[in-house]
Amino acid sequence: MIPYCSICWDVDKVKLLDQRRLPAEELYLEITDYHEVIEAIRTLAIRGAPAIGVAAAMGAALGALDLDTQNPGEFLSRFEKICAEIAQARPTAVNLFWALDRMQRLAQAQAGEPVAAIKARLVAEAQTMLKEDDTTNRRMAQAGQVLIHDGQRVLTHCNTGALATGAYGTALGVLRAAWEGGKRFSVWVDETRPLLQGARLTTWELGKLGIPYTLIPDGAAATLMHQGKVDLVILGADRIAANGDTANKIGTYSVAVLAHHHGIPFYVTAPLSTFDFSIPNGDHIPVEERDAEEVTHLWGQAVAPAGAPALNLAFDVTPNNLIAGIVTEKGIMEPPFSSSLKPYRPTQE
Ligand code: MRU
Repeated sequence: MIPYCSICWDVDKVKLLDQRRLPAEELYLEITDYHEVIEAIRTLAIRGAPAIGVAAAMGAALGALDLDTQNPGEFLSRFEKICAEIAQARPTAVNLFWALDRMQRLAQAQAGEPVAAIKARLVAEAQTMLKEDDTTNRRMAQAGQVLIHDGQRVLTHCNTGALATGAYGTALGVLRAAWEGGKRFSVWVDETRPLLQGARLTTWELGKLGIPYTLIPDGAAATLMHQGKVDLVILGADRIAANGDTANKIGTYSVAVLAHHHGIPFYVTAPLSTFDFSIPNGDHIPVEERDAEEVTHLWGQAVAPAGAPALNLAFDVTPNNLIAGIVTEKGIMEPPFSSSLKPYRPTQE
């Protein structure tokens, strides 16, 4: 059992592990106001696509609890506005919009009920989403662990563990299940500039799991692949288009091109809630651009001359032809993804 959780609901508040402070400090924020949830998502106190989804749902539940009307019609229209505000927190991880949509549909379906009953259903739904994420991740992990073999050296990028989800993790969940199943392997951890999710978070989680790892600068992956020291790449996703094009942390595309060049299998792991079947390909994925200061500074310390122009794209899109398979809770999807994913497209599409 891992003695931490990224996010949970505690009676009438949200508790979340402040990932900005890791690995130096394990500090839980206690939040009762949905505006603070938005801030936590925006500033990456909570991050990773599935965790952002759960946080958005819990933020919406907090917002609902605060509404002081007894009129269901007024409640619903004010709740819709709260969800629209939360939806502005970050643009790329589709789980955020998926979760808010689910909360809004539930509220609409309860329109004939007293406001207190709708509020209770919304709070319960947010908690259900957290539990479902745990179950989904464990299913993905079981499906994906067949990819991992004794002696492999696996490379991963960004952070995809329990911290990035409701529990267990996506790509790190696959590694965890393989490890717990007795397989012995090691992990190359990309540091993941500029916010160092690999260096700060993935190392922290692998350490707690007892899985051997070596931290590397992002630029070292090419050389390690050339030297034959990488057997498999596995990482997560923030949004996957209907054709399998995958948005993930900036630098993922470079790793995919390198893996392709060196003939190394490149796998993505993501729940179906990370798929956006409304867009045909990755060109339609909105890529978040964050403050340039995250590139020019490290922990408030300038690492570039004052005023140096910098571009901070938080994600990139890996084209589907570079992806060997996508691990989901329904099994490993193989190319061509538009065919393998077809049974899982929502029926209304
Ligand atoms: O900016 P972040 O830290 O939210 O980016 C997270 C990632 O890119 C993860 O790889 C992705 O969300 C998969 S998480 C299971």
